[in-house]
Amino acid sequence: MDSNTRPELYDFQGISMTHYFTDNWENIQNFQARSDDILIATYPKAGTTWISYILDLLYFGQTSPERQTSIPIYDRVPFLEMTIPGLTSGKDLVDQLPTTPRLIKTHLPVQFVPKSFWERNCRVVYVGRNAKDNMVSFFHFDRMNGLQPEAGDWNSYFQRFLEGKLVFGSWYDHVNNWWKKKQTYSKLHYMFYEDLIEDTGQEIDKLCSFLGMSPSAEEKKNITSGVQFDNMKKDKMANYSTLPVFDFKISPFMRKGKVGDWKNHFTVTQNEAFDEDYKNKMKDPTLQFRTEI
Ligand code: A3P
Repeated sequence: MDSNTRPELYDFQGISMTHYFTDNWENIQNFQARSDDILIATYPKAGTTWISYILDLLYFGQTSPERQTSIPIYDRVPFLEMTIPGLTSGKDLVDQLPTTPRLIKTHLPVQFVPKSFWERNCRVVYVGRNAKDNMVSFFHFDRMNGLQPEAGDWNSYFQRFLEGKLVFGSWYDHVNNWWKKKQTYSKLHYMFYEDLIEDTGQEIDKLCSFLGMSPSAEEKKNITSGVQFDNMKKDKMANYSTLPVFDFKISPFMRKGKVGDWKNHFTVTQNEAFDEDYKNKMKDPTLQFRTEI
């Protein structure tokens, strides 16, 4: 793996992708889910690691606390479609998971999710994050991640986000199509990053009721405090510092963890153009994101 060679973005069945997520396509599409698998689905940078960590603590925090100190989060919750030469593929990592349930991460647009997840009626947890902060977070991630196409300058990144020309395609289509899925698939719990920031405990309560879990008050309190940004930022098993393809000198994985950082990046002109374009793309009044709290 040569982290100096950035992959090219290309059109894959109408979605911008890189080969790292399409090389193993047949195997991914034929992935055999189990009925108790939990799929964590997000557009990149919407809070995937945060919700993964919460779910891991809920299920295994009591029974196998050593997981938290010895296994990086990306091995506890494998990234299904990731296929990097020289590394075990995400699909194989999932197949090797010893846990029940298996926690599985994906960034796939809903139409690309392997059909066995739907056939087995698996629980799915989706996290959405407002587009402005999501864009900023993705920009800094693409700057520091050698496995992503070059970020380029902020202006051009901004344009590419609006055009859906980033890995995993359009944010607008992603959040909208997953939201639509919720109307016909009841085992989908759709969460928002901003709600998690505002009241982590309440979001954990709602998540538990979706999962049919009832942790003790003390356990919930421990989880809520354990997953706060500052704790995860310093936790080697959660902060991705063990992954050499990330250049933390450019930007850390646990960067800011805030709602509203877009204000430090968007120019006034960009913000106006963004808001105008947003109205045209986000027509469903039932799906609302907050850009500040
Ligand atoms: P920022 O770049 O805005 O800081 P993902 O896990 O989907 O890649 O998302 C990463 C984003 O979630 C980053 O956003 C990261 O800092 C933020 N994040 C991760 N853990 C968090 C936490 N415990 N609380 C708040 N934000 C968190």
